[in-house]
Amino acid sequence: MKVGLIQFSPALAERDETIRRIDPLIDRCKGADIVVLPELCNSGYNFPSRETAWNGSEVIEESIFIRFLEDKCRHLGFHVVSGFCERDGGLLFNSAVLIGPNGVVGKYRKLHLFMNEKDYFQPGDMGLPIFDLGFCKIGMLVCFDWFFPEVWRILSLEGADIICHPSNLVLPGLAQKAIPVHALTNRIFVATCNRVGSEGDLHFTGLSLIADPKGEVLAEASREGTDVLLREIDVDRARDKNITKRNHLFHDRRPREYISLVR
Ligand code: ACM
Repeated sequence: MKVGLIQFSPALAERDETIRRIDPLIDRCKGADIVVLPELCNSGYNFPSRETAWNGSEVIEESIFIRFLEDKCRHLGFHVVSGFCERDGGLLFNSAVLIGPNGVVGKYRKLHLFMNEKDYFQPGDMGLPIFDLGFCKIGMLVCFDWFFPEVWRILSLEGADIICHPSNLVLPGLAQKAIPVHALTNRIFVATCNRVGSEGDLHFTGLSLIADPKGEVLAEASREGTDVLLREIDVDRARDKNITKRNHLFHDRRPREYISLVR
């Protein structure tokens, strides 16, 4: 199957301008099976106030941004994972939404909030869902979740072949070092779609990447520029959990010795 990443700069609090920017980029992903967009793609990231975060948020069922992506999925025949500033009643969540040719398939709400996100968003309350698309099983994480090895392991134990990871990374180079290692130690594919540009005092670090179950970086975007990455992957490679003839990633685990992890 083919994975696409769209690294660009969403416009803060200007959803229509963001859609205008994505439009020609997503058309370049024709032929992909899954396309990943950055975190909080409909709203931008570095909100100066709660009001800006609120005004940038959308309810999934009423979202112009989601309707735009549904339309693209229908016409181009792929699935999209996009970061999404989600409003639910009076609450906001930093979410990732999986959309396909028949509409919204599901969502994940970011579990680990970074810095000022804690002023605007609720931490995720939907666990770590997996979505079986037939041709592959997808898990989703959002940006700073990368720092927590537990979530990568849970998704891989649940059968994820690929983790789609919309991001707005700001700590220079750190996630880009760790992601291939998460791919390696879980023997999965990871598609991290970062953004570029600056908002206020935050500069986003680009270098979006696709990593494989051996920890190799199959494709990498630039540090500063808008980039569309497309890469063929063999999903079966994520289903072979044999490390040696006598070692299996899951069967060799010692969960009884890991009990302090869930205290
Ligand atoms: C981040 O979680 N956006 C750094």
